[in-house]
Amino acid sequence: MKGVILSGGLGTRLYPVTIPVNKQLLPIYDKPMVYYPLSVLMLGGIVEILLISSAEYLPLYQKVLQDGQQWGIRIEYAVQSEPKGIAQALTIAENFIAGDAVCLILGDNFFYGHGLVDILTECTKLQQGAKIFAYRVAEPQHYGVVEFDGNQRVISIEEKPRHPKSNYAIPGIYFFDNCAVEIAKKIAPSNRGELEITDVLKYYLLHQNLSVEVLGRGFAWLDTGTHDTLLQAANFVQAMEVRQGLKIACIEEIAYRNGYINAEQLKNLAQRLGKSNYGKYLEDILHESHPY
Ligand code: DAU
Repeated sequence: MKGVILSGGLGTRLYPVTIPVNKQLLPIYDKPMVYYPLSVLMLGGIVEILLISSAEYLPLYQKVLQDGQQWGIRIEYAVQSEPKGIAQALTIAENFIAGDAVCLILGDNFFYGHGLVDILTECTKLQQGAKIFAYRVAEPQHYGVVEFDGNQRVISIEEKPRHPKSNYAIPGIYFFDNCAVEIAKKIAPSNRGELEITDVLKYYLLHQNLSVEVLGRGFAWLDTGTHDTLLQAANFVQAMEVRQGLKIACIEEIAYRNGYINAEQLKNLAQRLGKSNYGKYLEDILHESHPY
């Protein structure tokens, strides 16, 4: 399965002045935001990844993430010239996906929880249909909303409904079989002029090919689109990391533990980070007696 990270946007407009960097390059606590969705793909075993952003910011991503070889993965890049909707990522990625199944993840989505790796590993085996998650939120009207029955059969999908039919938001990670690109080509822009990812999901639903899995209360899903959620995510990561002495979304660690790089390569990455806490953390992994 291939992975696509959609990380576009028009500069960081969260502040009184537009900051001339893409939001997903801002840090969440001790690493850039884009590390988090990238780590999710890697935890699921995905090593061929396309990052999509605007022409303005793509060079920044290329500088930060390079070609992925340093982490034993492959990262390619593509431009979305205008933010015309999340589903457009699928058509932009057509050549990259090349008839494979694909996991599309939004660059500002944060996932954490026990058992996530197993769930992701299972999802990346998908060959037929589409799969989404459902996550209970207090204010579902801000998201794509999924309604399902007692057997977790999807009943309806709606994008930011005024009167949500359930409290379950659809997080920004989607698993598709090799039909997704053709479906994305068929859908029309919504009233807000975007190719909605929820319209792609509705197509799968109509053809009885959409499944949903609830991410229960033990999981954290945050979309880091506001001052509050950015801070919440940073506070969450800080609290967990300081308490456990283990990092969340440490790309270098995941690459090493998944066997994408060897000890020598991890050592080189650590040395490049000098005496920083992050560098020391990587050094410590090399010497640990009980792997976590
Ligand atoms: O976060 C999950 C939600 O993401 C889903 O529940 C919704 O169904 C889905 O539509 C989306 O809603 P948002 O309102 O959060 O989407 P937003 O327009 O904020 O875009 C999410 C990220 O994707 C954001 O970081 C910018 C990037 N993006 C978005 C669009 C529309 C692009 O790079 N290109 C685009 O064309």
